Amino acid sequence: MNILVLGSGGREHAFAYKIKQSNRCSNLFVAPGNAGTHALATNLPISVTNFPEIKKAVLEHHIAMVVVGPEDPLVAGIYDFFKEDEALKNVMLIGPSSQGAQLEGSKERAKEFMAAHGIPTAAYHSFSEETLNKGIEFLKTLKPPYVLKADGLAAGKGVLILNDLKEAQTELEQMLKHAKFGAASSKVVIEEFLDGIELSVFVLTDGEHYKILPTAKDYKRIGEGDTGLNTGGMGAVSPVPFADDGFMKKIEEQVVKPTVRGLKEEGIDYRGFIFIGLIKVEEEPFVIEYNVRMGDPETEVVLPRIQTDLVSLLEAVSRKELETISLKIDPRAAATVMLVSGGYPEAYQKEKVISGTEQVADAFVFHAGTLQKGGNIVSNGGRVLAVTSLDEDFKKAIKKSYQEIAKLSFDKMYYRTDIGFDL
Ligand code: AMP
Ligand code: GLY
Repeated sequence: MNILVLGSGGREHAFAYKIKQSNRCSNLFVAPGNAGTHALATNLPISVTNFPEIKKAVLEHHIAMVVVGPEDPLVAGIYDFFKEDEALKNVMLIGPSSQGAQLEGSKERAKEFMAAHGIPTAAYHSFSEETLNKGIEFLKTLKPPYVLKADGLAAGKGVLILNDLKEAQTELEQMLKHAKFGAASSKVVIEEFLDGIELSVFVLTDGEHYKILPTAKDYKRIGEGDTGLNTGGMGAVSPVPFADDGFMKKIEEQVVKPTVRGLKEEGIDYRGFIFIGLIKVEEEPFVIEYNVRMGDPETEVVLPRIQTDLVSLLEAVSRKELETISLKIDPRAAATVMLVSGGYPEAYQKEKVISGTEQVADAFVFHAGTLQKGGNIVSNGGRVLAVTSLDEDFKKAIKKSYQEIAKLSFDKMYYRTDIGFDL
């Protein structure tokens, strides 16, 4: 069948790479894609939220399956757009309905969902401009650090963790009254701070059955030792060494099962990935967020470890037959290191010529922000390449990635040299 992947990052390159390996895939398209996907698929110059253009491309290229990478089109209702269209309703679209996507689209909705289904999470209250004064009073009743979350999508920037009460009160006012994060902060969730170590669990569900995919841990800060500004993610490892069988069992029973059951009970059509951000506090898992898609760069370590044919797995999701497939995972560990443009996550330059990709032999080079320009591959984003290696354990895998990175270069290339340092 012909398949379309929506997105342009390392996540989508990793999806394209796995899908291309399947003999179930005839022609592969990526919209809009990057230089990495250009090498294995046909890139289509269409934005991921331009549904009418996506429809045209799906009909023109006889596409039978669409895999949605990022959250924006899901929250904007791409699943519903397909299901409500006579010509598109039989296309397999991997991703939740807009109702399901609200688990990421609204932090308040996610908290209400968790409360309704008994899923462990931090205590919270949510506030709007009308209740700003109550929010300011509420902060006084909490101990620092204070956790403030813009309700809506804010490109990963909407969470503030502050030590000072006055500062927290000022920021709350900035968010609610002065639209610090635009419409995303017209509501703010204030929650209890959880002190522990983070990990992410990925679930593939057809709304009825589920498979737990490999765990991963990403490194969000720009600087060594997890310091400096937040980024989209500077590296990741899979599996997470401290997520042993006992802890995974707790996650499955206390989080995964009630989440899938909750979606079903609420009549939500959900055929796609659930990315569950967790904090381990002492020995217990607490959910800090749901994302309704795979993570980036987590996908670059999770997908290379999945040995089951990815297209068959996704077909089973779409047909609600996920229980008929068994999931085979590579026992080796995976690590990825993100190469970024100097200056990122603040201002940075683009169109730097990238050299050395053809010399990398022992790692996957997933393109995150690149463009094919004439005979060159040039940078086209803050995060540029993700270099993934597999080996017996995560330390060996990381070492291999760093060895291969030595072959790659572009002007002002930067990366963290300490991925996995805390494990
Ligand atoms: P989120 O966008 O919800 O993933 O939040 C961004 C980051 O803020 C998370 O990766 C955590 O490091 C941190 N965080 C979010 N909620 C909490 C919480 N309740 N307690 C401690 N840290 C949190
Ligand atoms: N790496 C975090 C995310 O994809 O949201």
